[in-house]
Amino acid sequence: MAKVRTAILISGGGSNMAALIAAARENDYPAEIVLVAASNPGAGGLGKAQAAGVRALPFDHKSFDREGLERAVNAELEKAGVELVCLAGWMRLLSPYFVDAWRNRMINIHPSLLPAYKGLHTHQRALDAGDKVHGCTVHYVRQEMDDGPIIAQAEVPVLPGDDAHILAARVLQAEHQLYPHALKLVASGRARVEGERVITDAPILLKPN
Ligand code: GRF
Repeated sequence: MAKVRTAILISGGGSNMAALIAAARENDYPAEIVLVAASNPGAGGLGKAQAAGVRALPFDHKSFDREGLERAVNAELEKAGVELVCLAGWMRLLSPYFVDAWRNRMINIHPSLLPAYKGLHTHQRALDAGDKVHGCTVHYVRQEMDDGPIIAQAEVPVLPGDDAHILAARVLQAEHQLYPHALKLVASGRARVEGERVITDAPILLKPN
């Protein structure tokens, strides 16, 4: 079966990107990573993508307005025949132009158990609230930030002595298992959106190793 041509959009270190690229190397994985685009030329993930043999394109968000950046990225996505977009730490808000263009074909990972803690500083907020369980979510992208039908989530415990840094590292490890799992579900057609819900025969909650 043809693999789904997938792009990853990053702004930073790209550890989730690297996890997706590694997973997609498996013969039976249903997605192929054909392009990585970064919103700034200093994004550490660009070098990692190139080292893994994936085409990596730097964009400088300072040279564009929001939609201009998205139009430039979109032109490359179209040229590369991309069918599915994974946001992996893309730190720019998206305009309706881009969200509509990729509706139900763009997914994101967020470091909380949505709908809890949309936005930034999720780990500190979970600690401040005294949560015993925290985690991460992969969801389809909608206009509202960190909103949209949930594909899969992974839980991690909040342990005595955790600070935001320790907790972030534990969640990030779970992200690296969750995102390849969720992309596989979407690319294989095992997860799809109906109305504003994800229909899948896979469990929504992943227990990370
Ligand atoms: C991750 O925590 C992800 O959940 C969030 O941005 C971070 C990206 O980290 N959206 P990395 O660049 O994948 O290491």
